Amino acid sequence: MADREVAVVTGAASGLGFGLVSSLVARGLSVVIADIDGDALVSAEKRLRAEGADVLAVRTDVTKSESVLELSAHTLDRFGRVDVVCLNAGVSLRGRAWELSVADWRWVYDVNVFGVVHGIQAFVPALLEAGAGHVLITASNSATTTLPSLAPYVSSKHAVVAVAESLQHDLREVGSGVNVSVVLPGAIRSGMADAVRHRPADYGSVSVPVPEDLTRASRAYLARFGADPRAMADDVLQRALDERRFCIFTDPADAAMLVDHAGALSDGGLPPLVAPVSQEVK
Ligand SMILES: NC(=O)c1ccc[n+]([C@@H]2O[C@H](COP(=O)([O-])OP(=O)(O)OC[C@H]3O[C@@H](n4cnc5c(N)ncnc54)[C@H](O)[C@@H]3O)[C@@H](O)[C@H]2O)c1
Repeated sequence: MADREVAVVTGAASGLGFGLVSSLVARGLSVVIADIDGDALVSAEKRLRAEGADVLAVRTDVTKSESVLELSAHTLDRFGRVDVVCLNAGVSLRGRAWELSVADWRWVYDVNVFGVVHGIQAFVPALLEAGAGHVLITASNSATTTLPSLAPYVSSKHAVVAVAESLQHDLREVGSGVNVSVVLPGAIRSGMADAVRHRPADYGSVSVPVPEDLTRASRAYLARFGADPRAMADDVLQRALDERRFCIFTDPADAAMLVDHAGALSDGGLPPLVAPVSQEVK
């Protein structure tokens, strides 16, 4: 069994995932990097190895249970242990709720929700056996509200917050010391505006192609206003692993948004829209 702690990160080749990997490496962990984008994964692995990191790259499609089980098997074969599991891969797609096809909805749910479910099934048994460890799930600040033209994404992120809460309750009820955290990030400088490039062929093509000018605007928004992924990862890991926080906001204003949203619902109303359309890129 490896002496150092071992982390696994999904969606590791880009954005927040790569930030989490770099930050975990800086903390002295060996890291298994998993992503559907094989080329980006190879570049990430080379870059990390050149910096002296102990990394193992495993091409993984989180929409497929077998693929995530293989990721877990590779991790345990190579290192004999797993300590931190970051279920971070996510995709987004714009379109009206009734215009997007069922395949569009399924793709977003299969990555954002079932990707997390597959990760729980593949890794939590090993964490339970070890009696310790941490599962960090990436949701979004859009789980504190709702936005038009993003129904699959926003609803999938509401779902994973509830999955994370339920998982922690389940673990506590069986007396396990395994901890769970969920992060609800604000905008990140990342490749999210081009998420459709990672759509597996079995979902067919997108039913409502996003106009190029909107994609350009999303890219520009994230490049200009998105947080630095490594700095965000350092902060998130400190609060998750060191302070053992369950729920992590990267912007305190998002916590307030959650309160306002719940207040509007409990008053029997439709919560007002809080973000301008130009920000619908998460
Ligand atoms: N970008 C933002 O503003 C923002 C805001 C809030 C939350 N988030 C969340 O942060 C997480 C990371 O996203 P990011 O912004 O770094 O985007 P990103 O596109 O830079 O990174 C996402 C990674 O996930 C990978 N991926 C996509 N489908 C996959 C699949 N089926 N299997 C395995 N890997 C897959 C992609 O190849 C990519 O490397 C996501 O869960 C996203 O929803 C992003």
